[in-house]
Amino acid sequence: MVKNKNNRAIWNTRIKEKSSTLFQKVGSSINIDKRIYKEDILGSIAHVEMLFKQKIISFKVKNKIIYGLQKIDKEISKNKFEFSDKYEDIHMNIEKNLFKIIGEDAGYIHTARSRNDQVITDFKIWMKKATKEINNNLEKIIKSTIKISEKNIETIMPGFTHLKNAQPISLAHYLMAYVEMFTRDIKRFENNLESLNQNPLGVAALTGTSFNIDRNYTTKKLGFKYPTNNSIDTISDRDFVLDFLYSISVCSIHISRIAEELIIWNSDGFNLINLSDKIVTGSSIMPQKKNPDHLEHLRGKSGINFGNLITMLTILKGLPLSYFKDLQDDKEIAFKSYDTLIDCLKLFNEVLNNITPNKKEMYKLAESGYITATDLADYLVKNHSMSFRKAYQKTAEIVNLAEKKKKKLTELEINELQKIEPKLTSDVLKVFDLKYSVNSKNSYGGTSFENIKRMIMKYKKK
Ligand code: ARG
Repeated sequence: MVKNKNNRAIWNTRIKEKSSTLFQKVGSSINIDKRIYKEDILGSIAHVEMLFKQKIISFKVKNKIIYGLQKIDKEISKNKFEFSDKYEDIHMNIEKNLFKIIGEDAGYIHTARSRNDQVITDFKIWMKKATKEINNNLEKIIKSTIKISEKNIETIMPGFTHLKNAQPISLAHYLMAYVEMFTRDIKRFENNLESLNQNPLGVAALTGTSFNIDRNYTTKKLGFKYPTNNSIDTISDRDFVLDFLYSISVCSIHISRIAEELIIWNSDGFNLINLSDKIVTGSSIMPQKKNPDHLEHLRGKSGINFGNLITMLTILKGLPLSYFKDLQDDKEIAFKSYDTLIDCLKLFNEVLNNITPNKKEMYKLAESGYITATDLADYLVKNHSMSFRKAYQKTAEIVNLAEKKKKKLTELEINELQKIEPKLTSDVLKVFDLKYSVNSKNSYGGTSFENIKRMIMKYKKK
């Protein structure tokens, strides 16, 4: 590193006092942002290639810098690089080392750029890769979910509203609901690429630069689509971080909701699914216990991710344009949310492959709670030209009767039904059958077996 007379880092040239060691410790981000060293080196190489093309630096200097950067890349990947708090962040750590390797020519690297545009360039390149990795994992989950759905098209269970038996559904229909959610998650992450594809490099500290740089060149080199439009906005903008954290939060909600539901289904009260020993843990005191810790972990971690979104919103609230040290924490937050989500996605996929539906119990539960009452009301409307409200009233009377006689709807005799509605014939009894009920829901998006098969086909083609 080029040092001034007081032997301090170059950006401290005018600062007379030695920086507080406490601040050096807390203000340094190297332990966090060393994670984007590859992106930083990539950005720097594109930058110096552009500087050479624009005749701002010489061929020799460009080559020396690239040689040095590639050497640093290797050293870091082989764990042979010494990171130091003293140089604050990944940008200065690399620059300092470049001086060690190639000498004074390293000083040309920072022409026409600032750490302000440098850091968001690195961060956006990282986030594009992270987005891809998240979506790959989501695709795996969708595949696993479809696989289980295919095997459970005819598995009938109660559909709940208010967690009370509502109407019978196919287990596959329930699972395919999550395929819709995870597909929207993928789309949400993909939508973020629009702004992630705008290249910040070249806006320098906040104003742009007087050097004749070519931002389209670095844009292309670094795989962005366009250069950003306004230098002040570029430096200040962390919307892309919010978008990322929000998308992670929504995806976490989906995982948390299904985790919660599977915990309920696995409870001894419901007993609708079994979890293999791979995804349960024992209790330290109760020898009989097999607890759904994996699912609870998935549910709990969503809280961490929401918190990170709120943290970032709070950091940005009321922050004037353009760069402030406050912004430095954006990376730690995004990395944490990303790591948490990736772990959760992988864990969830493992969970999916270790659940068995308890088909008998599902069917048994669906037989209780007069779950086909709505089917009777629909039947009355269709076959006895009643208004739905009138049919609803008649059906309620029939449910009351069943309740009084402690019978299921399927156990009622036709003459008992006729006491309430004389026009009824024994043809009506079919509507109480669970399979009949499920298959009658053949409106687009409904739970009929045919619909589900078609939907599964559609997703498999995708
Ligand atoms: N490490 C800093 C960050 O992540 C880089 C930008 C520093 N710029 C500055 N003017 N201090 O935010």
